[in-house]
Formats: sequence, structure tokens, C-alpha cells
Amino acid sequence: MKNSRRQFIKSSLLAGAAMTAALSEAGQAAEDKTERESLSVLVLGGTGFIGPHMVRELLRRGHSVTLFNRGRTNRGLFPDLETIIGDRDGGLQGLEGRRWDAVVDNSGYVPRHVQDSARLLAKNTKRYLFVSTLSVYADFNIRNDEDSPLATIADESVEEVTGETYGALKALCESAVRETMGEARTTVLRPTYICGPGDHTDRFSWWPVRTARGGEMLWPGQAGDLIQIIDVQDFGNFALDSVERRTAGTFNTATPEHTYTMGDLLDDCQAVTATDVSEIWVDEEFALTASRNSPVQNRGAFPVWLPQRGPNAMAMQVIASAARDVGMRTRPVRETARNLMRWWQQQPDERKANLQAGLPEEYEAELIARWKKEHA
Ligand SMILES: NC(=O)c1ccc[n+]([C@@H]2O[C@H](COP(=O)([O-])OP(=O)(O)OC[C@H]3O[C@@H](n4cnc5c(N)ncnc54)[C@H](OP(=O)(O)O)[C@@H]3O)[C@@H](O)[C@H]2O)c1
Repeated sequence: MKNSRRQFIKSSLLAGAAMTAALSEAGQAAEDKTERESLSVLVLGGTGFIGPHMVRELLRRGHSVTLFNRGRTNRGLFPDLETIIGDRDGGLQGLEGRRWDAVVDNSGYVPRHVQDSARLLAKNTKRYLFVSTLSVYADFNIRNDEDSPLATIADESVEEVTGETYGALKALCESAVRETMGEARTTVLRPTYICGPGDHTDRFSWWPVRTARGGEMLWPGQAGDLIQIIDVQDFGNFALDSVERRTAGTFNTATPEHTYTMGDLLDDCQAVTATDVSEIWVDEEFALTASRNSPVQNRGAFPVWLPQRGPNAMAMQVIASAARDVGMRTRPVRETARNLMRWWQQQPDERKANLQAGLPEEYEAELIARWKKEHA
């Protein structure tokens, strides 16, 4: 009885949210159509996680979109759009001699690739928006704003993207765009964890999806530990606003600093899944050891959360006021979690059984038993 009532509440919450979203999108679309200049936009990497959100938003705003990718990820997602098939690694021929008002670059990880596309498009494009990352910063023991020192790499010809090289290579990619296009025509966005429907990493998804299972659940650190995310739709909206308004510059993109904690995430996950869990907060050391010893490696055991001491102490206190000052809006994280769950429920069973982040079920049970024994 309790379960079916719970199920009903869950379905109602999700259906209600879907309807509200549909109505507000319809209203927004009607409002927008009257005012905007229609742009032609080339999206480098429009079929992965964040790309489709941007593509749909561009179309909703009345712009025309051309896609460029290798044809590997989500083939056939946008059958009505022109797709130029090519590889950023030496395969840009399909872009030669073409003109666009703006380029949105979602798929630049290697400086040489980004430089090649920027050089080729500089004459035939008015603006270039490059999606970078907060990982460009050199030091996460400080609160980073856009002027903070950037990560460097001893050998700038390295092209292998790993956890160690990712940030420094993205910083070099940013420079390649600025130098080639000129500062006035360049927008660089540095997002934190991008979260929401379509995320194949499941880093944020883990929390509401696991919460929906109920029972005793491990939570790392303390309820007051700070976190920052950026909703995928908010990120896309800000990116496209920047293109339309010709906003040049570099912007951290994250929820406002000091406003959201792991305890808030727990509340939000329980609210959107209409499930109460028995939360067990374990200290940083226990969480980090559990993560290191997880039977599934290369998959964050407590994704999105970072220890609030040590080398990443300030990684979740990044300053994103510059973006807010030019109009970036971020929705409450609860809404991101709600949209995420709505999408998750529509996924095939095979996908749902194959979470890409978080604690394997048996391992979590083992950790809970160990924690309780140590703290009896
Ligand atoms: N996800 C996050 O939390 C996060 C956080 C910070 C920054 N970012 C940045 O956000 C951007 C997009 O991330 P995402 O998670 O949406 O990526 P994604 O899901 O991996 O999508 C990558 C897209 O790029 C295309 N692509 C990849 N390699 C290519 C190549 N060599 N040539 C041509 N096209 C290529 C893919 O299509 P094909 O496979 O068909 O080529 C796909 O459309 C990245 O620049 C990433 O650094 C992401």
C-alpha cells in the first residue's frame, strides 16, 4: 500500500513537472519568435550530452543549425539537419568554403584540433564559442575566478587526454581560439559538472537514482559540504545568449557559490523521488578509502562531491559572478534533479541497470556494515 502510494506520488510529481515545463516552453517559444535575428550556427559536436540540448534550443529560437561530427555518437538523432561528417583530427575538409554566423565548439580537447578549426573558420565566421572547463585552473586551494592562474603542461605537443592533461590542454585550446579569432569574437565558457538529462557519465544522476531505491544510503563528508553544478539547459541557454548578444570574454559557469550543500542534495533527491532514505554520513577519510577500494575502478564512488580539505578544498567554491552579471541564470538544483529523473525513467531497462557512477549495491551494503561496526 505504502509503495503504490509512493509510486503514485512519484508519477504525479514527474507528470506535473513535465506539464509545467511544456507550458513554459510553449510560452517562451511564442515570446521569442517575434524578436530574434535568425543566425546560421555550426555546432562542432552536437550529438553527445550537452550538444543536443544546445541544438534543440537553437532550433527553438529560430536559428539554422549545421552539425559536424564523425557520425559515431547518437547517429540519426537529428535527421532533418545538415550533418557534415568529419574528424577534427585532420578531417575538416567538409567545412572548407562554408560560411556561418557563429561556431559552437563542444568537442575541442586537443589544441591542434581547435587551432585547425579556428584557422579554417576565422574568415568565414563572425563568432566562436568554445566550451572549456573549470579544470583549466592550476590550483583548487583558492577560490578561482576567471583571472586565476591556469594549469600548464611541460610538453605542449602532448595530445593524449587524461585526467592529468585534460585541464592544461583545454587551457591551450582556449588560447588557440582567442589568438586565431581575436578576443572580441571569442567566448569561452568554463563549466563545472554539467548535469541533467542525457548525461552518459551518471555523475549527478547517481544521487537521485540511488535515492529512489530507498533504504540505508551512504553520503560522503558532512551535510554542510558545499557543491556546485551547472544545469545542462541553463548552460545551453547561457551559451546561446552569449552568441546572440555577441558577449565576448571568458566565464566560469556554475551555480552561485556558497548556496548549495550535500545536505540540500539529499533533500532534493528525496523530494523528487518521493522516497525517504536512511542517510549515513561517513567522514572524508572513510569516503576516500571506500572510493579507492571500490571494485569498479575509474568510476567515482561519490561523484560530484569533493573533500573540503586538501588540494581540492575550494573546487566547489568557484566564483561565477561574471557570468551572472551578463545574464546567466541558474535554476534550483531540485529542478535539475526532477528533469533528470523524468529522463531516467524513460531509459531502457538495460541502461538503467548500467549506472556509470556511484557505489555498486553490494559494496555499499558492505561499507555500511563496516561503518556501523566501527562506530557502534
Ligand atoms: N560533461 C561535463 O560535465 C563537462 C564539464 C565541463 C566541460 N565539459 C565540456 O563540454 C564539452 C562537451 O561535453 P559532452 O559531455 O557533451 O561530450 P560528448 O557527449 O562526448 O560529445 C562529444 C561530441 O563531439 C563529437 N566528437 C567527438 N570527437 C570528435 C572528433 N574527433 N571529430 C568530430 N567530432 C567529434 C561527438 O560525435 P562523434 O562521436 O559522432 O564524432 C559528439 O557529438 C566538452 O568540450 C567537455 O570538455 C563537459
